[in-house]
Amino acid sequence: MQKIIDGKAFAANLRAEVQRKVGLLVKDGGVTPGLAVVLVGEDPASQVYVRSKGKQTVEVGMQSFEHKLPDTTSQEALVDLIDSLNNDDSVHGILVQLPLPPQIDEKIVINRISPDKDVDGFHLDNVGRLSIGDPGIVPCTPLGCIMMIKEQLGDLSGKHAVIVGRSNIVGKPMASLLLMENCTVTITHSRTKDLAAECRRADILVAAVGRPEMIVGDWVKPGATVIDVGINRVDAGDGKTKLVGDVDFASVEPVASHITPVPGGVGPMTIACLLHNTLQQACHITGKSVPE
Ligand code: GUN
Repeated sequence: MQKIIDGKAFAANLRAEVQRKVGLLVKDGGVTPGLAVVLVGEDPASQVYVRSKGKQTVEVGMQSFEHKLPDTTSQEALVDLIDSLNNDDSVHGILVQLPLPPQIDEKIVINRISPDKDVDGFHLDNVGRLSIGDPGIVPCTPLGCIMMIKEQLGDLSGKHAVIVGRSNIVGKPMASLLLMENCTVTITHSRTKDLAAECRRADILVAAVGRPEMIVGDWVKPGATVIDVGINRVDAGDGKTKLVGDVDFASVEPVASHITPVPGGVGPMTIACLLHNTLQQACHITGKSVPE
């Protein structure tokens, strides 16, 4: 067991596992999973993610389809593209990179993706399945977190999990996953009265608020497992910028029993989980079982 959870190594193992299963699916099932990623506009961070997704998709033996549209794209044009991807048999997963430009309604677009090709787990059908504990596609970031937590701690029954942040992408699905593991779950947010006191009760603390280094050592119970979902770019003081999480690593690391660093913790797991979800959907759509 490691104190500093190596998300990079964990993600490399998961990718290797996906690659092996894709190989079996191609060989025995005649199916090559295909992932379509749609990027609207030129947001630099989104461009980096999309490039990285495409590269890793190909590396595990899947087909990658990239659709780059100008930031003036109309909602109608985007919906038409999604309809054609929904009807394309070589595409098993569709991801529309968020955020979208203001003229486009995110909810309409996300729910236009066939739930059987949704690899983000953002479609309402998949959100509903997760919230009642049915099998389905789970959003990539919380899926990566729960995999790492279970790997470190094993059985989570009866543990107190505290989540800082109530977003639809991380906080809420994270709560559903931890509940399914029989944790007692508290979700905290900007109106929570005594956030430090709530955090101090956590055996498992998940920080997903987007506030640089907000959670400090004094807020953490000795021996807690701390999962830092934050990716914040801050001034490094030398004219450059650096990435930090929502957790103040320097003060929390000595108190925690396990902690994810930023970078190199949760981040690398997200794309690995996207590949995992694409494989799941390729098997689901084609009626094949996921190779062992
Ligand atoms: N933008 C930032 N993270 C994500 C993600 O997980 N999925 C999508 N579709 N867009 C994002």
